[in-house]
Amino acid sequence: MHHKKPFLVLSIFSLITLAFYFAPLQLWASDEQKAKEIIQNQCSTCHKFEGKPESKFNLKGPDLMWAGNKYQRPWLIRWLTGKEENLYPKGYRWDISQEQIQHPALSLSDANIVADYFIQHNQDPRIKKSFVDLSTFTERESQFGADIFRSFSCLGCHQIKEDGKKIGGPISANLYDAGNRYNLDWWSRFAENPQDFTPHSGEYLADLSMLGARYIIGYLMTLGVDDFKYFEPWNQKEFKNTNIKNGARVYKEYCVQCHGAEGKGDGPGASGLEPKPAVHAQMALSDFPEDYLYNVVYYGGKAVGKSPNMPDWGVTLPTQDIADVIAFLRDNFKGGDTTATTPEPKMAKSTSASCVQKHKAKKAPAAYLKRENPLPATEAHFKAGKALFLKEAKPVACQMCHGKKGDGKGPGAGGLNPNPRDFTCSPMMKDIPDGQLFWTIKNGSSGTGMMAFRKLKDEQVWQLVHYIRTLAK
Ligand code: HEC
Ligand code: HEC
Ligand code: HEC
Ligand code: HEC
Repeated sequence: MHHKKPFLVLSIFSLITLAFYFAPLQLWASDEQKAKEIIQNQCSTCHKFEGKPESKFNLKGPDLMWAGNKYQRPWLIRWLTGKEENLYPKGYRWDISQEQIQHPALSLSDANIVADYFIQHNQDPRIKKSFVDLSTFTERESQFGADIFRSFSCLGCHQIKEDGKKIGGPISANLYDAGNRYNLDWWSRFAENPQDFTPHSGEYLADLSMLGARYIIGYLMTLGVDDFKYFEPWNQKEFKNTNIKNGARVYKEYCVQCHGAEGKGDGPGASGLEPKPAVHAQMALSDFPEDYLYNVVYYGGKAVGKSPNMPDWGVTLPTQDIADVIAFLRDNFKGGDTTATTPEPKMAKSTSASCVQKHKAKKAPAAYLKRENPLPATEAHFKAGKALFLKEAKPVACQMCHGKKGDGKGPGAGGLNPNPRDFTCSPMMKDIPDGQLFWTIKNGSSGTGMMAFRKLKDEQVWQLVHYIRTLAK
């Protein structure tokens, strides 16, 4: 059946040639024949088809042995027809030249033939169905992935886009379009051993857990995908069918130790903690958005910019218990009595100096204190600030604590000591510089309920500062 012919010259073509000799002749369709010719004549001068680990410094272009698994087809077609940007901003072989190459382009029909050929013949059999299930990937997980991307230096060598601008070191392949480029399953091979591809090429291995790998891969698969559909766990069936009695049991077994038997924030763990566990009994948890409560209970305080002493329960508690304890929080804590930790007199208009609150927030660094709001006080900025304050800010809108009027009496206010800042108190607000407001919004006020809003862009924070300023008039 197979015609084995003696091999005379060992060259970079040898393996391709070998593969062609082994393929049963009678199955070659004419398109396949054509693809082979294109690859041999127009590609194999630069690309090997060996699939062996090899330093890029011995290659002219990436090895394409597993090209059938690696790329999403539409991307591959765009690449082959010259419609994609270069992947290596400083050149693949930056040691030889940092000029951008003009990658050879094929006609659309030839590109399709070659792509079909790759899919037929260049599949890595070791690829497993990826351990990352994107259908259960949440926005919060994506943010963890984004954090890993930075903390593990990925950004030092691979570019992504932030606000449309390329950022990061341009050493290796850019990743800002990764979600449109890679096949999800390809990652299982890459994650297993990144050095199976191009070792001795300046590459880097990260010490990541399986969960960490899920976060970073999932995150990369969102890059460039504008309409990525995140999983919303609070819409699962467990949340439609909750059992408050079971929620009360979970609360007793896992939450009372800090939050106290009646949610007064006086469990045995409370005395050593700063900030104190939230006083649920004085919060209208019934009014809190579902996604926020889910995120704070499942991913912990640190995931919403709050104290890491509020544990992440996602690994400990089954989904139904999480759903039930949240239902219990909502059912049991509807605002309660707000007198205990609200010593300030309630005032019709906060014009007198007695509305001044003790200031706990750390002083911003001098460079910030001097900064004035760089945005003009336009209607558009004011409106954007208002929308963020009332509704849009993530992980939760400011009004949940600072109140709709900014008077510091939102649904979450009662449970927090110190209280949320009362922005209507002009004698106090006039002494707080713009830069201080900006700093606290970005970084939170450690040891208090004021969380860090790190994901807000600078412009959004300045819009909020504009809006907050209007509340004191
Ligand atoms: C002159 C050398 C050269 C030729 C000829 C060439 N390529 Fe490339 N190819 C490269 C280089 C270099 C890169 C890295 C791209 C970059 O720098 O952005 C690349 C990248 C690729 C990639 C993406 C690889 C990855 O995983 O990052 C594919 C797919 C590809 N080429 C296919 C082909 C095909 C198919 C042909 C033949 C039609 C071909 N190339 C011809 C040099 C070449
Ligand atoms: C010190 C620089 C460096 C760091 C840090 C680094 N990489 Fe890389 N990465 C490389 C190099 C070099 C390669 C090999 C490809 C090439 O440039 O030839 C590579 C390859 C890759 C590829 C395959 C690209 C392709 O299309 O073939 C991916 C994906 C990748 N890295 C992701 C990551 C992630 C995720 C991180 C962070 C956990 C990371 N890298 C950290 C340098 C780095
Ligand atoms: C080890 C102590 C500890 C345990 C146990 C604990 N919490 Fe907390 N929790 C805290 C602390 C501390 C805060 C305040 C965090 C902050 O303000 O930065 C908090 C805050 C909260 C908040 C309010 C978030 C906000 O917006 O102010 C909720 C809701 C909450 N916890 C729910 C729970 C639930 C439900 C459980 C049990 C499944 C639980 N906590 C167990 C320490 C704990
Ligand atoms: C979970 C409750 C909570 C949420 C949500 C919240 N805050 Fe706060 N905020 C507080 C508390 C408590 C304080 C008082 C902190 C202190 O005394 O240091 C505070 C203080 C502040 C201060 C005072 C800064 C200073 O230096 O005096 C600003 C400004 C502020 N918050 C803005 C915001 C904005 C803007 C948002 C929404 C993007 C927001 N807060 C959301 C609880 C919250």
